[in-house]
Formats: sequence, structure tokens, C-alpha cells
Amino acid sequence: MSRGKFITFEGCDGCGKSTQLKTWSEYLTAQGIEHIFTREPGGGKISEAIREILLNGKNMEMTDECEALLYAAARAQHLADRVEPALSAGKLVICDRYVDSSFAYQAYGRGLSKEFVAKINAFALENYLPDATVFIDLTPEEAFARKHGADENDRLEKAGMAFHRRVYEGFDALAKAEPERFVRVNGKNTPQGIFEETLAKLQEKNCL
Ligand code: TYD
Repeated sequence: MSRGKFITFEGCDGCGKSTQLKTWSEYLTAQGIEHIFTREPGGGKISEAIREILLNGKNMEMTDECEALLYAAARAQHLADRVEPALSAGKLVICDRYVDSSFAYQAYGRGLSKEFVAKINAFALENYLPDATVFIDLTPEEAFARKHGADENDRLEKAGMAFHRRVYEGFDALAKAEPERFVRVNGKNTPQGIFEETLAKLQEKNCL
């Protein structure tokens, strides 16, 4: 049996990723394409427990290094628990955020070095680089205007607009650096328009 494809979705907070993933779930089920949906941080018992620590609004004193290491730890567990079993069973894996979020948020956003982020994520980068990464291109200014402000309880969304702007610039740079892996779609489009653009571009890459 051939290995399944691995597709990740990325973008700034509030870029419309969740809406897209719901549409993808309906589409793949209707097409009878064997798949799993998963998310980072999270996707299994241990990685969901790490997610709780990372996103808890009470953990404001967490250092940037600890944060980056916890994302990488959650990722290692998630790859073993969910991603590898599905890929080796020939299933398509759709993952809501992955290692590019660590570069965008922890390196570009928080200011950690890219070398440090690459080093602690080497396992993901060497063995589990996605076949395609969809970047829903919507600036944080546009995303936050749509959402009517940040969610008060979410530690990351408290980080402020300057932080989210750096994260956006990070995704933009990552997508430019790896155009063969990244699929950039226009986040200002309607949800249906975004879905159709993504579908066409993933088909072009033979990912579906
Ligand atoms: P979540 O509520 O799932 O947000 P979203 O729906 O926007 O994906 O929270 C995930 C948060 O974790 C999001 O703000 C991005 C952040 N994150 C990192 O900072 N680094 C990472 O490596 C990952 C996977 C996520």
C-alpha cells in the first residue's frame, strides 16, 4: 500500500482555517477519500494535555524557550500517535497547524532564533515534512476586524497586534522560501472561493 499524503493548514489566528477544515471534512467524506483530521498542538491524550498548558491564560510567565520546546514535544508525540499510523495505513492526513507555526510564532513572533526552532523540530523536519502546506493568506488586521477583537482567555491572542504582524510576515516569508511545498490562497475570498482555490491547487500538486 502506498503511503498517504500529509497536508497541513497554516495562517494567522482568525484567518478562517476552522471554517475551511469543516468544508474539507464534508468534501473528503463525500468523495470517499480515506482521511483523518488532526490538530497541533494536540491530537492525542498527551499532546492535548500539553495543549492545555500552552493555551491556558494563567500561564503568562512561560518562557519563550519553554513554549517552543512544549510545541515540539507535543509534535513528536502527535506524529507517533496519530500521523505515522494514518500515513502508513495509506490515509490522507489533514493537520490544523504544524511545524511552520513554530517558525512563524516562536521564531518570527517571539524572536527565538530559527536555528533553535529548527534544531528542536529536527524530527518533524527530517521525517515528516508535509507534501503540501496551505497558507490561508489573511493579515492579522483583517482577521481581527472580522473577529471583533481577541478572545480574552487565550494566552496567545493576548500577545497583541505587533506580535501577530510578525507572525504573518513569518508565514509570508516561509511560503516564499518554499513555493514547491506551500499553496498560498487568498483569505479575503469567500469561504467557498477559498475552498475552491485550495482544491484546485492541491490537485495540481497531485495531493488529492
Ligand atoms: P488554536 O486555538 O488551535 O488556534 P487556531 O484556531 O488559530 O489554530 O491555538 C493554536 C495556537 O497555537 C495558535 O495561536 C498558534 C499557536 N501555535 C504556536 O505558537 N506554535 C506552534 O508550533 C503551533 C502548532 C501553534
